[in-house]
Parts: sequence; C-alpha cells; structure tokens
Amino acid sequence: MDYDRIETRAVHGGERRPGPEGSVVYPIYQGTVYSVPSGTDYHDLRYIRLNSTPSQSYLHDKLAALEGAEAGLATASGMAAISTALHSVLRSGDHLLVGDCLYGGTHDFLTHHAADFGWDVTFIDPHRPDTWEAARTPRTKAVLVETITNPLVRVGMLPEVAEFARANGLVSLIDNTFATPVNFRPVAAGFDLVLHSATKYLNGHSDIVAGAIVGRAEHVERARTTSNHFGGSLDPHAGFLLARGLKTLALRVRAQNENALRLAEFLAGRTEIAQVNHPGLTSHPDHERAAALLDGFGGMLSIRPVGGVAAAQKLIDALRLPFDAPSLGGVESLITRPAATSHAGMSEHDRLALGVTDDLVRISVGVESPEDLIADFDQALATL
Ligand SMILES: Cc1ncc(COP(=O)(O)O)c(C=O)c1O
Repeated sequence: MDYDRIETRAVHGGERRPGPEGSVVYPIYQGTVYSVPSGTDYHDLRYIRLNSTPSQSYLHDKLAALEGAEAGLATASGMAAISTALHSVLRSGDHLLVGDCLYGGTHDFLTHHAADFGWDVTFIDPHRPDTWEAARTPRTKAVLVETITNPLVRVGMLPEVAEFARANGLVSLIDNTFATPVNFRPVAAGFDLVLHSATKYLNGHSDIVAGAIVGRAEHVERARTTSNHFGGSLDPHAGFLLARGLKTLALRVRAQNENALRLAEFLAGRTEIAQVNHPGLTSHPDHERAAALLDGFGGMLSIRPVGGVAAAQKLIDALRLPFDAPSLGGVESLITRPAATSHAGMSEHDRLALGVTDDLVRISVGVESPEDLIADFDQALATL
C-alpha cells in the first residue's frame, strides 16, 4: 500500500501485513544464512553480507517508502553509504562534481582517496548553475551535493542540480541526512540516489551507526552489488533498531524543526551572539529557497559567539542540557565546535574557505521542551 503522508508512511510503509505469526512488529532475523534452491545466483543467496535476509529486505522497503523511492539499501554507516554509492557509479578515469560545502568525512574521503581510485573530483558551488557547465568534462559521470550542508546549513539550487545531471547523462546523488524525508524528498526533485547517515535523524536515538542508499531501482541494485563485494552491510540487530526509530521520524523531526527555529530566533536576538545560521531565519542567505523547497528548516543551526573560540568553549561548558558531542539528529540536543570535531580532518585552508571558523558552534536541537532549551541557553549566555 502507498500512502501520501509521511507520518503514515513512517509507521506503515514497507511493513509486512500480517507480520510473521501475525506479529505487529517485524522481528529480527538474526541468522546469517538461509537455505535456497540450488543454482541461485550469488547475489540472491540469503546471507547478511549480501543484504538479502528477511529483516534487511523489510528495512530496505521501509527506507524506500519513506523517500518515495523505488528501492532502498541499508549500509553499515553513513560513510559506507557514501563510499559504496560512489564506487557503484564511478570507474577509474571518471570525473565527479561535488558541492563545495560537504560533511568533513565526505570531504576527507574524496580529498584523501579519490585519486587512489582514479577519480577526478571538481568542487562546484551548488548556488551557481552558471559555473557548472565549465566544470563538466566528457569524463564526468556523477554529481554529489547535500540538501542542507554541514555545518553552515546552506541550501543550494537542488532541483537545478538534478536537472543539470539529467540533461548531461550524469548520475545525481544527494546526502539528505540533515533534511530527512520529512523536510525534503530528493527523488521527487529528480535525484537518482539519496544517501543518509541513518546514524542521525533516521534512527534518532544516538544508539546505532547505519547508513542508507535509496533511489531508482537500477542504481540501488548496482549499489547493492558493490556493497555485497565491499562488505559494508548492516547487522540485522542494528537494522531492527533503525526500523523502530523510523516509525517516529515524522514526530521527532517536526518537533526538532520547531525547536531549532525557536532557539535560532532567540539566539539571533542576543548581543552575545555575533552570527546565527539557520535556514528558517530571514537573515539566512538561502532562506527564500529553503522556504520554497523544504517542508521544514531542520533541527540544525550554527552560531558564532562574540569573543571567539574562548567564548564558544565557555558557552558549551556552561550549558546543562546539550551534551558536548559531535554527532547529531538524536532526541537529545548536542553541541560541538566543528573545527575541533566533524571538520578537524580538513586542512585549515579548506575549512576556513568553507566558513567553518574556529569559533563556529554547531547545535543539533533535540526534542526537549523549547522553553527549557531557551532557558538553558539564557543562563549559559549570562556567563559570557
Ligand atoms: C551529512 C552527513 N553525511 C554523512 C555522515 C557520515 O555518517 P556516519 O558517521 O554514519 O558514517 C555524517 C556524519 O556526521 C553527516 O553529518
């Protein structure tokens, strides 16, 4: 059954009805291997690494349903999703276009390893379509961008990126981790492959590491074959927790959208804060585009306190609710300084060129009461 609304899809999408033995909750099939008719193709054997056991197939259908995609694949981490998807579309000698503001891990993967694989990489500005054609070469095979970038929460010209890829025969990939399918559905916007760190919002409880690749069936099937060879499949037990987390995705993300906007508005009014980056604020350079493209502005924001790194660290230390921890997307608020954590692997030059200054503080807003969060920031700001 297909459902239009994301809340219903989160609960019922991909479910088997009735479940085994009539179970309402799809169980964990922890077994590594299953008996199959002789002569079954290698990739169709039922084995956890081959992504084909019952709990895995169920999760794949649920992930696809949430993104409104033809097919889905779970991976062992977000980086496994990104590296597997890129290996499935690129061969040695191919050229890749990537958005110039990327999660630090993706940036490091490309700058440290692309050359080893024979891939040529050119960074493009997703806000400047007039520059894309000049970056394309006859060897360009794919383009990768992020929906809402980490940590400056920029929103590029996403449907235009997908259209540019389609017009030039490129595979379009998008990391939708920050937006989640609650706020943006890239398949409907024309993207071929949607990638997630499911460690973050999709699971939502900071207790597993997982990734997802969803999109057009032919592309996901190729990614599955690549994953089968590279070995980055998701363990069924983690998959069970992910499927459980997905059922409350819409509730959590809507609360996080609202909390982040309220916190951003509060911080924007404070003299102790020099800059607040959140796409829901009218001061954000991409506000109008974000309002047109997204159903919600997301639960992430970043700030620069007056007083530089010392003030940034003092603020982090004075807060009582958010944990000082570098991940994001869980029910609890987290706060971190990306220059010291998520973007620490980047050269200072690249990091500063992206606007990830030493004093930038990133906040992943949880589902706590917004009044309590604001009160906590209020008391912490008073210490600066
Ligand atoms: C936007 C984005 N993509 C991918 C990843 C990598 O995910 P994982 O840590 O699950 O490998 C992260 C991690 O922070 C991220 O923020």
